Amino acid sequence: MQIVNRTAVREATADDYGAIADVMFNAVRHGRSEYTEEQRRAWVPQPRSGCDWVARLDSQTIFVAMNSKRVIGFMSLAANGYIDFAYIQPFAQGTGVFRRLYQSIEKLAQNNGVARLWVHASLMAQPAFATMGFAITKREVIDFGEQCLARFEMEKRIINLCSCKCEHNEPLILITQSRGN
Ligand SMILES: CC(C)(COP(=O)(O)OP(=O)(O)OC[C@H]1O[C@@H](n2cnc3c(N)ncnc32)[C@H](O)[C@@H]1OP(=O)(O)O)[C@@H](O)C(=O)NCCC(=O)NCCS
Repeated sequence: MQIVNRTAVREATADDYGAIADVMFNAVRHGRSEYTEEQRRAWVPQPRSGCDWVARLDSQTIFVAMNSKRVIGFMSLAANGYIDFAYIQPFAQGTGVFRRLYQSIEKLAQNNGVARLWVHASLMAQPAFATMGFAITKREVIDFGEQCLARFEMEKRIINLCSCKCEHNEPLILITQSRGN
């Protein structure tokens, strides 16, 4: 059976933070990459841990993809529509897990009335987010110590008509005309 068919997506808890850090480390250091070994080491020198890591994760909603009770990927949504994390274990990349996680993020964003999702996408993530409907808004180079990494800022407008309000704060009423048979 395909990996994605055996994968369940749920919201993460603080108990998942260690596993999440390992997924991030493996994805960057051991997955296919368009960055050099030095760039990857500078990006994630070791699995993240500590108070700053916990505080950063606590401040957003994180979805984890679970396979045989193991975390094989995660994606997160911060309050301003920012997708802070998107990482998949190397063995599960290219198997549909990215799309499953993204669908959970977009659904949550729509339920929260978020109009725009945005992300800083790595060179590997850019085609995956483009497939989900994101467009490039900026090309950037960021410094990690002595290493410079290229990445893209991307965005997707998600329209939620149900939460639209007119200027008097009244719900938007859509009037449609249908022809009787
Ligand atoms: C970036 C990352 C999260 C993407 O996950 P992934 O599992 O490799 O993503 P996929 O290859 O399944 O791509 C997702 C979708 O985009 C499509 N896609 C990917 N590359 C594509 C390309 N070059 N052209 C067309 N479509 C492409 C895939 O076909 C897939 O669509 P599908 O669901 O219809 O099959 C993962 O590779 C990873 O963890 N990389 C290392 C860390 C990293 O860079 N994280 C991102 C930080 S922003």
